[in-house]
Amino acid sequence: MRAALFAPGLGYYTAGATKLGIGGDFVTAPEMSPFFGAALADAFAAMGAANVLELGAGSGKLARDFLAACDGKPPYSILEVSADLRDRQQTLLANRKVTWLDALPDEIEGLVIANEVLDAIPCEIVRFHDDHYEQARVTVAPPSGSAVRSVRPPLPRAGEGWGEGDENQTPLTQIWQPLLTGHLLAAAKLRIPPIEGYTSEINLEAEALVATLAARLTNGALCFVDYGFPRREYYLPDRATGTLACHYQQRVHFDPLILAGLQDVTAHVDFTAMAEAAVDAGASVISYSTQAQFLLHAGLLKRLESYEFASDAQRATALGAVQKMLSPAEMGELFKVLIVGKGAAIEQLAAMSTVDQCYKL
Ligand SMILES: C[S@@+](CC[C@H](N)C(=O)[O-])C[C@H]1O[C@@H](n2cnc3c(N)ncnc32)[C@H](O)[C@@H]1O
Repeated sequence: MRAALFAPGLGYYTAGATKLGIGGDFVTAPEMSPFFGAALADAFAAMGAANVLELGAGSGKLARDFLAACDGKPPYSILEVSADLRDRQQTLLANRKVTWLDALPDEIEGLVIANEVLDAIPCEIVRFHDDHYEQARVTVAPPSGSAVRSVRPPLPRAGEGWGEGDENQTPLTQIWQPLLTGHLLAAAKLRIPPIEGYTSEINLEAEALVATLAARLTNGALCFVDYGFPRREYYLPDRATGTLACHYQQRVHFDPLILAGLQDVTAHVDFTAMAEAAVDAGASVISYSTQAQFLLHAGLLKRLESYEFASDAQRATALGAVQKMLSPAEMGELFKVLIVGKGAAIEQLAAMSTVDQCYKL
């Protein structure tokens, strides 16, 4: 997953594919509507013009809309691992006061935002098989023998995205390696139900990122928006094949071994794991809610009402996008917002407790 997404010059995020938006492979909330960034700015207005650090800013639209909603006041910086996306962000934000960082600061004060970043961090696939845990590995040489297991579900029909037979062109094969020691095994024993064949993801790297951010936070809040579940829902016995999915030309499928570097590969977020990582690093959970609850609490509808649209068509488009962000059948419930913090920010954001559902974590 790391190579497919981030190999220099070849990975999905590091090469030049369009990626985000209608012409790309998937559409995120900031791509859909400027009201998303504005609502985020409103949600954190109680922190004053605190420094903002955005991780993985995609096309830069969230930064543009956040800054527009607060008159460009807060100092805004971006940490982006993709040089290609960084170039696009710099073009879009050319007239804004935004700085780009090459690494996380040692001390973080203010607000950190990560929209659909944790799901893009390479995860591990683990399964319970034959009374032990195994980790999925990917190899280029097709091994012989029974260790080989195809993970391929039926692909879309030929002519509907990629050509007939293309799926056979991958030299990649998945093999299973017994997990004998280490953090991954410890996490698997805690999380993966011991049901024969049960397969799911564990993302220790995303947890490490959250822990690092929380440890370096001196005073402020970290806000993670993503699709995912609390642990008890993530590892439900019925969700026996995990959540790993691939996005290619606005279509979703479940074979990460094809189209390497051309398609997005992503897994849902275990929000319990993220909250635990933050709390273990000294932060407190301020709020855990659905995206719909969070955006409504932030006053999204008020912003919408007071906006002067140039035409009815523009209003209809804006309403359609907001409906997508809020609807339980679209992003409203699948997407969650986890906010953790330290210091004065906890008091400043106390009003968020009205939507907090951290008892679900
Ligand atoms: C799915 S895109 C979301 C982009 C944007 N936040 C949005 O909502 O439109 C994932 C983004 O995270 C970036 N990314 C992935 N891993 C990262 C990391 N460890 N630190 C910072 N950015 C990362 C990618 O390059 C990309 O910009």
